[in-house]
Amino acid sequence: MPGFGNHFASEAVAGALPVGRNSPQKVPYGLYAEQLSGTAFTAPRAENRRSWLYRLRPTANHPPFRPYARPGLIRSAPFDEVPPSPNRLRWDALPLPADPVDFIDGLVTYAGNGDVGAGTGLAIHAYAATASMVDRAFFDADGELLIVPQQGTLRLVTELGVMTVAPQSIALIPRGMRFRVELIDGPARGYVCENYGALFRLPDLGPIGSNGLANPRDFETPVAAFEDEDRPHEIVQKFQGGLWTTTLDHSPFDVVAWHGNLAPCRYDLTRFNTINTVSFDHPDPSIFTVLTSPSDTPGTANCDFVIFPPRWMVAEDTFRPPWFHRNVMSEFMGLIHGSYDAKEGGFIPGGASLHNQMSGHGPDQASYEKAVAAPLAPHKIERTMAFMFESRNVLRPTRWASETPLAQPDYDHVWSNFTKGNPPQ
Ligand SMILES: [Fe+2]
Repeated sequence: MPGFGNHFASEAVAGALPVGRNSPQKVPYGLYAEQLSGTAFTAPRAENRRSWLYRLRPTANHPPFRPYARPGLIRSAPFDEVPPSPNRLRWDALPLPADPVDFIDGLVTYAGNGDVGAGTGLAIHAYAATASMVDRAFFDADGELLIVPQQGTLRLVTELGVMTVAPQSIALIPRGMRFRVELIDGPARGYVCENYGALFRLPDLGPIGSNGLANPRDFETPVAAFEDEDRPHEIVQKFQGGLWTTTLDHSPFDVVAWHGNLAPCRYDLTRFNTINTVSFDHPDPSIFTVLTSPSDTPGTANCDFVIFPPRWMVAEDTFRPPWFHRNVMSEFMGLIHGSYDAKEGGFIPGGASLHNQMSGHGPDQASYEKAVAAPLAPHKIERTMAFMFESRNVLRPTRWASETPLAQPDYDHVWSNFTKGNPPQ
């Protein structure tokens, strides 16, 4: 069922989905009708997102949550563990744990901004997992989750159905939706943007027209599937920055039918229709925006999700790699596979970099020397998939991100040996 934010209807058992009303006096098969709201009831129609779920038991049927006791490295806004550094930061790839660790316990937070209580900003996490979640589920009451696998295929069991998400695809899990992460081809690593703000959506296309960038039809939504399991299932939730746990006597994945426009989805990044110059100059990287979470200032995103996919480079008389710049927005980058055209080394798959507000950055010296000497024949950048989470506010690193030995102490050096320009005196 492709689409994004469209209205869907799906039933795992014929006749389970009520017709013509959302909450009839008696739902077919004795199911319980339950609404999941992703926006305020009164959000404008174009923004309004909600789904109706028809399930074996209401979600309300659960014991109290208590604090989740295991220590972890997941953090939430406000990010004030350490003073934010103006320095450019870069990290080696997150190692995979030697022991069995699942998605929940494998989460670690790099940085973020805003305020989880105010519903602004975001957090950037990574996961390194070596075990499937078994008889337990996670949900995030603080925000929606944009999951970017870098290694290993995830089988995401959600309340609305099952999605398989491999590297170079992404998944978007709505706030509050229970899900389970299973590993189907070995250890898994990836990045997660936890969006506290306005829901991710496709960017407007302006003069590009009605097609291009990420096309709506390529966002795939699961079909209804349910588990009728009467054995204990742990539910871990993230609420106001803390993790909480409770145990049900049944599987939470008991939704037999659903309809609405608030649903998990996946998107294959290789389907992105890349737009670029066919004359000269390097356009702003906003041409590569897949999804955007707007803020209350038009054109100034709470978070943009931007990718750098394989593409032809044809610009004439142009410095083709990303240019040197300083940005009012703050930029966190990751690499899914291959290499990135502004760095000759050090930025590796599974690694990350952070260029905060107004920090000068751009191609490293080796990339620069290569680009200014290169013959400008058309050539294709292949075997690459980098991405960026870009935010209007400074991304404040966590203590872990500041102090981990994965942080590269010599990152500044990549820009330290440029020769001086020599205009005539
Ligand atoms: Fe940049």
